[in-house]
Amino acid sequence: MEEITLSLIDRKNVIAPGELEARMNRAAPLLAEVVAGEARYQPFLGWHSVDESAGPERVRWLRQQADRVRADGDALVVIGIGGSNQSSRAAIKALRPKDGPAILWAGNTISACEMARTLEELDGYQSIYIDCIAKNFETLEPGITFRMLRQYLEKRYGPEDAARRIFAAGTPGSSLEQLCIDYGYTFLEFPERVGGRFSVVSDVGLFPMAVAGIDIMAITDGMRHMRDRLFSEPAQSNLALRYACIRKLMLERGYSLEMLSFFEPRLDYFAKWWVQTFAESEGKNNTALYPVVASNSEDLHATGQFVQQGSPILFETFLQVRQRDASVIFPHDDKKDYFDYLEGKDFWDINDIARKATMEAHSERGIPCLNFSIPAIDAHTLGQLYYFFLFACYLSCKLLGVNPFDQPGVENYKGYMFKNLGKPEGMQ
Ligand code: PA5
Repeated sequence: MEEITLSLIDRKNVIAPGELEARMNRAAPLLAEVVAGEARYQPFLGWHSVDESAGPERVRWLRQQADRVRADGDALVVIGIGGSNQSSRAAIKALRPKDGPAILWAGNTISACEMARTLEELDGYQSIYIDCIAKNFETLEPGITFRMLRQYLEKRYGPEDAARRIFAAGTPGSSLEQLCIDYGYTFLEFPERVGGRFSVVSDVGLFPMAVAGIDIMAITDGMRHMRDRLFSEPAQSNLALRYACIRKLMLERGYSLEMLSFFEPRLDYFAKWWVQTFAESEGKNNTALYPVVASNSEDLHATGQFVQQGSPILFETFLQVRQRDASVIFPHDDKKDYFDYLEGKDFWDINDIARKATMEAHSERGIPCLNFSIPAIDAHTLGQLYYFFLFACYLSCKLLGVNPFDQPGVENYKGYMFKNLGKPEGMQ
């Protein structure tokens, strides 16, 4: 099998020769702890083995549930926010499965305009299902969207038919589960030991993917493949440790941003998932790299200027896709538009030449460039990527000395918002 690889172009020797290897050796005990899963993080490590939260049996059950939606549904609305809704969107946008119902996303904004648009858009579908994802069912955005869409379904199909169209992923024992029991909705499990941004390894991420028509067994096989690789690779050559140590060294050298750059726009939402994973896990104790994204070649005509000549505050992680997965040949034309020099060339190659040229120009400036090379954009590779970044993020947080699994900072704005919305004190 073709593997994911990682290399570093560092023309200015920001990392001195031998330094990375020494750092990786020193971090070997941390790697061992992450592979074992530390006792203090046990309440958050339900994703770590893959099999606990997304074993083959669970995947088969999810496929059955998804088939029920696929049999007569022409739209599924996935309601959720933050880590809880990014992963399935990332895969569905990247893989673009063709034969399933349309997948819409809601509950990730409080915009009145978006809510009105969603309701209007739903009128255009015949058979609608919804899936509300909410770990503790306290978050405002999915909570109020769920009520709106539940009522919409009830009005349109009547309470009984609406109930069979409603799925909800929550923790066992939560008020969301109680709603499912009371009104006959299908309850999916948001495992207690899996946090939002790690929830791709569970019903939360996998169910919407399965409804869309993605092979979720291939996704979880990819996760297991990467798990086995990262658990067995020694510190000196461990892919995740290498990535985590490079990031830590860059932070120590004064870089404050990591830019994930890619040349396939269908990875835009995967990049959002990556931002979510690292920003919310690492951004604590006044430290961490700020994760940013460049979707090229479009962003080369915007932030590309900053990268080439602006403040030298970032290093770049390129996502290179090796598979030639499409071919469009640039045609001959008698009209003089001065693009004849590209005649007969494949768009795929032109794009790849742009990618190489960008790495060349940026590394020539002295920007450290990591090349993260993946075999293809397919379900198995995506599964590997999900697991890789979750594991690397846990490791990276350990190098920083922060807790990967909490997010105390997101509570601050909520305090002001709930007070001004008149939420009763002490209410969940
Ligand atoms: O990663 C996280 O934990 C967060 O981004 C949550 O997923 C997000 O805040 C939504 O939480 P909940 O599913 O409880 O509504």
